[in-house]
Amino acid sequence: MTEDTTRSRIVLRNTLREHASPYDLHADARAGLSSTPKTLPSKYFYDARGSHLFEMITRLPEYYLTRAETEILEREAGRFVGAVRPRVLVEFGSGAARKTRILLDAMLERGLLEGYGPVDVSAEASRHAADALIRDYPDIRVEGVIGDFERPRDLPFAGRPRLMAFLGSTIGNLEPVQATSFLTSVQKEMTGADGFLVGFDLVKDVDVLERAYNDEAGVTAKFNLNVLRVLNRDLGASFDLEAFRHRAVWNARDARIEMHLESMVEQSVRIPSIGLEIAFAAGETIRTELSHKYTRESANGLLDASGLGLESWCTDASDRFALALVRAGTV
Ligand SMILES: C[S@@+](CC[C@H](N)C(=O)[O-])C[C@H]1O[C@@H](n2cnc3c(N)ncnc32)[C@H](O)[C@@H]1O
Repeated sequence: MTEDTTRSRIVLRNTLREHASPYDLHADARAGLSSTPKTLPSKYFYDARGSHLFEMITRLPEYYLTRAETEILEREAGRFVGAVRPRVLVEFGSGAARKTRILLDAMLERGLLEGYGPVDVSAEASRHAADALIRDYPDIRVEGVIGDFERPRDLPFAGRPRLMAFLGSTIGNLEPVQATSFLTSVQKEMTGADGFLVGFDLVKDVDVLERAYNDEAGVTAKFNLNVLRVLNRDLGASFDLEAFRHRAVWNARDARIEMHLESMVEQSVRIPSIGLEIAFAAGETIRTELSHKYTRESANGLLDASGLGLESWCTDASDRFALALVRAGTV
């Protein structure tokens, strides 16, 4: 196969710089760092380095999420694919698309696989994953979007029966209001033939949860601090990475792990490109990521509020993680 043939099987439409794109580091940094408490959206972790660090996280002994979800996919992929009979898989927040292969294999085995539509903000991760997939699946077409999944318009492969997937508990990174709005927009894009798989990390022992985000090797700390490198590089900010430390704590009231970057000293940081000088007290934090944890009941409430009906709910053997197969409307 020539390089040209290979390339023609990949179309990645970049919507990040489109007018009114929700991906706007300048506006989000200005709003988040001027607010109390200070926040930054987690989507800005994922430049090439951040995406690579996230892949390392998925292999950590403490990070049970990927292994638990893989266990469910290996057991249930055939059943999910048999129920929906999709010709294409559209995946939000696809990243390296490793677990994705379990679903693609199940589609291939049934002679259904035509295409794959990744939707992810990380250009590097998307290109890398697309290259690897067309190499390993000789008949697949990749039609993806490098963009923000919170605006899921013009999704790939409209008109084909689609299995949508939102794996890795990325739904947990969204506040419930945002999650409802995202799921509702996907639901509006779905036809009666489409199915949607959503991965929920479940409420569990606090120690297990906190360990998953405070690994011994310090990879999650590097991942968290990476957002300050992104701000230094892309906004000309003057964050001293040595003056902040990683913190991840369970917030029982909101059933979520919160990741913060804590200023170890009183300091001020300049971001000239957005005209900000930000003062930090010693111990003050920037909240960089939320990871909401669900129960079957709370997940059902979210799906219901989004116009999605639960068709099946599958957990791993230790009840750590769940995959919900849902349809537009009530099932
Ligand atoms: C928690 S990782 C999950 C990756 C992979 N699906 C998995 O299960 O291991 C989140 C992924 O979503 C992407 N992402 C985060 N926020 C996004 C957004 N608002 N729009 C599109 N992609 C986003 C990141 O680049 C990353 O690949």
